Amino acid sequence: MHISLKQQVALVTGGSSGLGAGSARGLAEAGAAVVINYHSDGESAQSLAAEIRDGGGQAIAVGADVSREDDVARLFAKTIETFGRLDILLANSGLQQDAALTEMSLDDWRTVIDVNLTGQFLCVRAAVRQFQRQQVRPAVSRALGKIIQMSSVHQRIPWAGHVNYAASKGGVDLLMRSVAQEVGHQRIRVNGIAPGAIRTDINADTTQGGAGKKLLELIPCGRIGEVEDVANAVVWLASDASDYVHGATLFIDGGMTLYPGFRDNG
Ligand code: BGC
Repeated sequence: MHISLKQQVALVTGGSSGLGAGSARGLAEAGAAVVINYHSDGESAQSLAAEIRDGGGQAIAVGADVSREDDVARLFAKTIETFGRLDILLANSGLQQDAALTEMSLDDWRTVIDVNLTGQFLCVRAAVRQFQRQQVRPAVSRALGKIIQMSSVHQRIPWAGHVNYAASKGGVDLLMRSVAQEVGHQRIRVNGIAPGAIRTDINADTTQGGAGKKLLELIPCGRIGEVEDVANAVVWLASDASDYVHGATLFIDGGMTLYPGFRDNG
């Protein structure tokens, strides 16, 4: 199977670190021109864009808060102004603001829902509007456009101490499938990715040392995931190799969603 994303433009939100940065790299390696969106870490985003350009690819970094409608409009306008079109959206921006339910402030709740769920709504809506202004290019891709929404195993697994995050990802699941149902006939392909424990900054505390050992009990495959495990799936879902995959969520979790605690119990 040969995957090429040449002549395609990909926008990655939250692309300055973690899964976003790894996926931006993967998309660029497959030949896509990449827009790396960042919220606060402009330096990392700029240096990733420079790294891609140094390797012969095309990339720019654009700052925008995906939870703000005007920022999202500016982000998409900059994408079109620079590369002329959009073929792939990876709606990836996400954060955690953890607290026990009784300690969780309204601000903790709102910030996570605003970025993780409303941010995806705004970016997915903008992408679909842009795709509808374009034509299918059969020699490049069978789809008019492709959307990949970053979710989490916690769209399925309840997560005490993280009700805002789990609720946002449960929302992402039904947002993704409802959009897929609505726009599939226009040849816009929409899918989700639900990572488990991947070695990134967002869970640096839980993947190392004693906490990391305890975490392994929840992962039948016996290892913490690497960014490439997710980036490879992003590239595949963005390509025609997955052209018949629509409205699906790919769990990339080493089996975390298999409820491993039930293996010799229950
Ligand atoms: C979270 C991580 C967590 C993983 C598995 C992810 O969605 O961002 O912090 O380790 O789910 O629980």
